[in-house]
Amino acid sequence: MAYLKVALGFLVTAFLSATVSLAHPGLGFGWGGVGAPGGQSGAPSYGLFPQFYQFSCPQAEDIVISVLEMAIAKEPRMAASLLRLHFHDCFVQGCDASILLDNSATIVSEKNSLPNRNSVRGFEVIDEIKAKLEEACPQTVSCADILAMAARGSTVLSGGPSWELPLGRRDSKTASLSTSNNNIPPPNSTLQNLITLFQRQGLDEVDLVALSGGHTIGVARCATFKQRLYNQNGNNLPDQTLERTYYYGLKSVCPKSGGDNNISPLDFGSPVKFDNLYFKLILWGKGLLNSDEVLLTGNVGNTMELVKAYAKDENLFFKQFAKSMIKMGNISPLTAFNGEVRKNCRLVN
Ligand code: HEM
Repeated sequence: MAYLKVALGFLVTAFLSATVSLAHPGLGFGWGGVGAPGGQSGAPSYGLFPQFYQFSCPQAEDIVISVLEMAIAKEPRMAASLLRLHFHDCFVQGCDASILLDNSATIVSEKNSLPNRNSVRGFEVIDEIKAKLEEACPQTVSCADILAMAARGSTVLSGGPSWELPLGRRDSKTASLSTSNNNIPPPNSTLQNLITLFQRQGLDEVDLVALSGGHTIGVARCATFKQRLYNQNGNNLPDQTLERTYYYGLKSVCPKSGGDNNISPLDFGSPVKFDNLYFKLILWGKGLLNSDEVLLTGNVGNTMELVKAYAKDENLFFKQFAKSMIKMGNISPLTAFNGEVRKNCRLVN
């Protein structure tokens, strides 16, 4: 009898949750703080939870993965571009898909900020995912959640870790060009700079080093590392921490004048494989960006030890990357009746 009562209780709760989340897709129950959702990072999930679309769009994950598989098969770099898109979204007004909005009467697009212009990409893939989701479950899955799912899917399809992804973000009706310029760290940042900009988002040194490991895939333009080759400290000398042969190789892709859009892999050993080689390369003087190098040599806090630890133990890196991605994905989401679910990720409704 007692067993029956408990079972009945579960059924009623499940039914109520389903009904309420169907009626109010934006209403989370704060499961985020309990059990699995926030559990991996120990951080609160602000009402986001992995089962958010369980009843309203159970196919959501499958649709996202199927589009990603095709896009990444066609161009392996796309995984990197989509991972970065989620990062550049979350650091500006929180993870609210503000980065996806185009210029319009009311919007000054973040796509034209210094860190984004001529650099962020992957918008067409997000559009394709959104179009398929609108067909299957109209106006249900937010663009901000699509970015988070695309970032995780891209990591997994590149050979990296997976994680239970809290969902239920809603989309902003605004964007901020100036916040995009101010909050996203530039590649020539000092370590202190990086730490401060991450702290502003509630992320610590461990998150900084682990998330920088995202540079295990993808490429950077010559413009973003040229200073290291020709004038690192305003004395017309290269960055002394660069390993010699790597330095000569980079000079051949990135001449002193011109060539700003030439690209070089962030992890030249395995540019489309998500692994821990990025950290090993830093130890060998073969990290591409100044922001990569200073994690080892910047001499603030504990980051040097973390680089060494992740270089030695890929599993440790994967576990921390997953935790830190959940933490980054939880930055100030819009939930409940805030924001909206856009029909087209490029425009407010
Ligand atoms: C720590 C501070 C960071 C700085 C200063 C930084 C800077 C950069 C720069 C300058 C590029 C090349 C852009 C271009 O040439 O157009 C880049 C690419 C990339 N970044 Fe970061 N980044 C940082 C953190 C992150 C984080 C947290 C992630 C994700 C977790 C990430 C993922 C990527 C990826 C995947 C690419 C390659 C994109 C592609 O190939 O399209 N970065 N980053």
